[in-house]
Amino acid sequence: MRYRRMPIEIESPEQTGYGRIACNLAESSIADVLFRDLNLNLNDLVLSYDDHLGKPGLREIIASSSPGLHPEQVITTVGAAAALFIVATSLLNAGDHLVVVFPNYATNIETPRQIGANVEFHPLSFEGGYRLDVDTLAARIRPETRYVSITLPHNPTGSMIPESDLRRLIGIIEAKGCYLLVDETYREMGYTATLPIAASLSSRVISVSSLSKTYGLPGIRLGWLITQDDALRETFLAAKEQIFINTSVLDETAAYQYLLNKDDHLARIKTMIQQRLQIMRDWMAEEPLMEWVEPQGGVVCFPRVIASAQVDMDQFYKLLLEKYGTFVGAGHWFESDRRHMRLGFGWPTEDELTTGLRHISQTLREVVGIN
Ligand SMILES: Cc1ncc(COP(=O)(O)O)c(C=O)c1O
Repeated sequence: MRYRRMPIEIESPEQTGYGRIACNLAESSIADVLFRDLNLNLNDLVLSYDDHLGKPGLREIIASSSPGLHPEQVITTVGAAAALFIVATSLLNAGDHLVVVFPNYATNIETPRQIGANVEFHPLSFEGGYRLDVDTLAARIRPETRYVSITLPHNPTGSMIPESDLRRLIGIIEAKGCYLLVDETYREMGYTATLPIAASLSSRVISVSSLSKTYGLPGIRLGWLITQDDALRETFLAAKEQIFINTSVLDETAAYQYLLNKDDHLARIKTMIQQRLQIMRDWMAEEPLMEWVEPQGGVVCFPRVIASAQVDMDQFYKLLLEKYGTFVGAGHWFESDRRHMRLGFGWPTEDELTTGLRHISQTLREVVGIN
């Protein structure tokens, strides 16, 4: 396996430099939490190795959000990123076939690709409302397919599927004898419904998630993977032990103490998301140069500049950042046409969001020469 840096990481806000960005609409999480707001009590923490599966109390909280799961079925990881890496490197060899929803969070594509796996995309289209159709996805599964990889709610579009579709897909996966990887990093940010942890529905499903997006805690690098398949979990644990043995006890204790008040945090976060979503709706309704598919979960959407406007997108992104200090996730981060951009509406303050959106409108007009 060979590593190659991905544009989404090279050009991420933290690598571009937070100092150059006044309105950051490129993040896919809610605003980052301040350490002091965690109200932690860490003085008696022993800085030891810990249970290799992860802190038991923390795994208990994670497992308790869907019936049928046990804490022993949860393995904590260094963010969802490490969980995805463990899954891909555990299940795939060069030449193995898998089906991946496209576009996607870049790592879901890049790691299988660098392993040399045969990555078949299942495209979601703007015209099709970024809807994941279970039957056309299932038609791509071959006898030798190792796994199908989906992201729910989807990044970068925010699209969802109903629980009945998820259950139907799992039924097909079971019948075909492959695995389903569900990257559910945004699961608790569904607007009308929260899907169950997918791994709670079948031993053929692997769920991956973290505290980075919903809770604004990417700095403590705490994620997890869940499977009811004992043999598979042993393999995942072996991978974890060879890469990092266990996640930091500081991170796990911080996560545990924060999640003791999970319901309060979630209620506040969900209210904030609906307010920000309304700002997006209002802007989209008034901006004829942009079109979108409204998201159904998470804090990102993937709108595009209308083709007939013939906007020079290189100039647009350059001017938007350099003149207006506004940063968005350019389409090429997702191997998509640069007319598309991922807009994150949960991370900036309300003021930064409305200002950033106004800057997008201004920049579009400057680039096409209408004022
Ligand atoms: C869908 C998805 N999965 C996984 C990750 C990795 O996040 P983390 O490692 O911080 O949990 C991201 C980050 O953007 C993501 O969007």
